[in-house]
Amino acid sequence: MLRTPLLAAARSPRARAVVQQLPPTRALVERFVAGEGLDDAVAVTDELVGAGRRITLDHLGEDTRDAAQAAETAAAYERLLGALKETGLAERAEVSVKLSAVGQFLGADGERVALDNARRICAAAADAGTTVTLDMEDHTTTDSTLGIARELRADFPWLGVVLQAYLHRTEADCADFAGPGSRVRLCKGAYQEPASVAYQSKREVDLSYVRCLKQLMRGEGYPMVASHDPRMIRIAGQLAQWNNRKADTFEYQMLYGIRPDEQQRLVDTGATMRIYLPYGGEWYGYFMRRLAERPANLAFFLRALATK
Ligand code: FDA
Repeated sequence: MLRTPLLAAARSPRARAVVQQLPPTRALVERFVAGEGLDDAVAVTDELVGAGRRITLDHLGEDTRDAAQAAETAAAYERLLGALKETGLAERAEVSVKLSAVGQFLGADGERVALDNARRICAAAADAGTTVTLDMEDHTTTDSTLGIARELRADFPWLGVVLQAYLHRTEADCADFAGPGSRVRLCKGAYQEPASVAYQSKREVDLSYVRCLKQLMRGEGYPMVASHDPRMIRIAGQLAQWNNRKADTFEYQMLYGIRPDEQQRLVDTGATMRIYLPYGGEWYGYFMRRLAERPANLAFFLRALATK
């Protein structure tokens, strides 16, 4: 019931100003975000890698409205990838990029700006010996993001993309992206979408997730199972077995701060477990989507507010 207003608040500058001032916000944000600086990101990456996890780092930011900020975001990724290379963490840590943060919405030129900036990030990743995955935002960006992904993959064939099971179109996209060498991160989807493009009930989204997983596990690419849902995780394991996939031909992924015990259990089975680790000052939209996903996250936040 609260999902809709929370996702609307995620896009509202006025709600952003209020939430960022609330005293308990910082403590809760720290459950989901590594910190604001590059050093925080590298320190938490090092700790998690030491505990057997792989990492994908997200320099927080979305809806960038000017070219200088988009270029600065690309530069921040270059600095991050330089640090991963220097510390030897690049072997186990890659990066995730939102195209809106590198210029996708900058008017008529936006796609070209985003493509150029994403290319810079991919070149830095190649130099560091690691990979990049493009995050997926709301459905109005899907065609543009997949188009940019196809262009980049001509030079960087290891580039990964996120597909969202709640969209009606995604089964077909999975078929398109299940070819040799492709890396697809399959998630359920975190935005507020209309019934014309997206399944609305959890049951329909879960059924779609399983159909998409079947495509990816049957295919010749590298499926990345991004879910905290015990059922999806169990089904992914069964599908991997039925398709004779070895542990190094697919991976599980979860968000930082969510179900750490389950993350450890999967590591202990010998599975590859990658953590999506955001860092940076622009945490508001990411944080609000996490509150919208789970009533328990919101209840924790409200309890903290009430005890202040
Ligand atoms: P869902 O939210 O349906 O929950 C199902 C069950 O999982 C729950 O009943 C519970 O058992 C368990 N569970 C879920 N959250 C829990 C918690 N906090 N604590 C304990 N148990 C919990 N979205 C998007 O639109 N674009 C993107 O690019 C990405 N990228 C991305 C990367 C990665 C690595 C992940 C893991 C997720 C994303 N997402 C995303 C977010 C994704 O779309 C989705 O909103 C969340 O992962 C929540 O969906 P779940 O599949 O976890 O299950």
